[in-house]
Amino acid sequence: MPLVSMRQLLDEAALGGYGVGAFNVNNMEQIQAIMEAARETASPVIIQASRGARSYTNDRFLWHLMQAAVELYPEIPVALHLDHGNEPATCISAIDLGFTSVMMDGSLEADGKTPASFEYNVAVTKEVVAYAHARGVTVEGEIGTLGGIEDGHGSGEVHLTDPDEGVEFVHQTGVDALAVAFGTSHGAYKFAQEPTGEVLKMDLIEEIHRRLPDTHLVMHGSSSVPPELVAQVNQYGGALKPAWGVPVKEIQLGIQNGVRKINVDTDSRLAVTGAIRKVFAESPEKFDPRDYLKPARTAMQELIAHRMRDFGQAGHAGDYEALSLEEMREGYAAAAAAV
Ligand code: G3H
Ligand code: 13P
Ligand code: ZN
Repeated sequence: MPLVSMRQLLDEAALGGYGVGAFNVNNMEQIQAIMEAARETASPVIIQASRGARSYTNDRFLWHLMQAAVELYPEIPVALHLDHGNEPATCISAIDLGFTSVMMDGSLEADGKTPASFEYNVAVTKEVVAYAHARGVTVEGEIGTLGGIEDGHGSGEVHLTDPDEGVEFVHQTGVDALAVAFGTSHGAYKFAQEPTGEVLKMDLIEEIHRRLPDTHLVMHGSSSVPPELVAQVNQYGGALKPAWGVPVKEIQLGIQNGVRKINVDTDSRLAVTGAIRKVFAESPEKFDPRDYLKPARTAMQELIAHRMRDFGQAGHAGDYEALSLEEMREGYAAAAAAV
């Protein structure tokens, strides 16, 4: 099937009471790992690319790799999503390229660092929603800011989502999905110790879901940072500091409370790096990239297949027929006319 709308994937997940992992990619092996994991577990899936990934792949390689993915895995519903679009132009170029979903992250200004005003966030997000929905494309917005700075993205400051602002934001913008800040952060170093309910504000998620039952909630910074992956990286020459991520059971609690999209990047990076380091350390005579990229791909596939089962999306690939973006566009137009 062709790339599908993320809104449809999340609507189906809400009906089925499960979450859908959104996994970041930068190259062919990562796309292959995710698609193989999706086939192995019969999962619908969201593949997402950041601005950095788009520039690394020069957009065109990414686009054609994704075409190969849908051609080779016709039974898997896949949405292609822009992660952390920093301004409307970035979202518009992704939509024009063929992304079926975009995130307009107006919680930060276009530099991707400075926390933005509520009014700015509403204005840029509304602009993107108008352009996207007229083409059947999904939009994710963000209210509140996550902690953590990854490769220059993020303010480093945490502003937990204010539920009143969240409700107002969704009403004013019409976004399909809302990223909420409730204590997670990007990268490997999220918490100084294993997080408790004091650190992850699950009651915030509960309240926002109660007040916005039709908006799909998104959990960024959802890597679990498995100790065995950190240990493997360090065992073979890495120098990662002790790190704690989001326990899977907390993500599952979030899913019970309306979280439908779960963003994971760091765990994939750890799996890939650990596997490559192991080959380099144990077989220093090897120099064919396939000798280390193949184990890296397998390690990432294993991790993602686990997450697909953890999030509940496993087994749901065949539940529904994909709607075309034209059908999605008609749906948005009909909903707007009914207001
Ligand atoms: O939230 C950020 C994602 O992990 C993507 O990271 O901008 O380094 O590609 P990146
Ligand atoms: P992690 O750094 O926890 O994998 O989060 C990734 C993310 O939120 C991408 O938008
Ligand atoms: Zn993120």
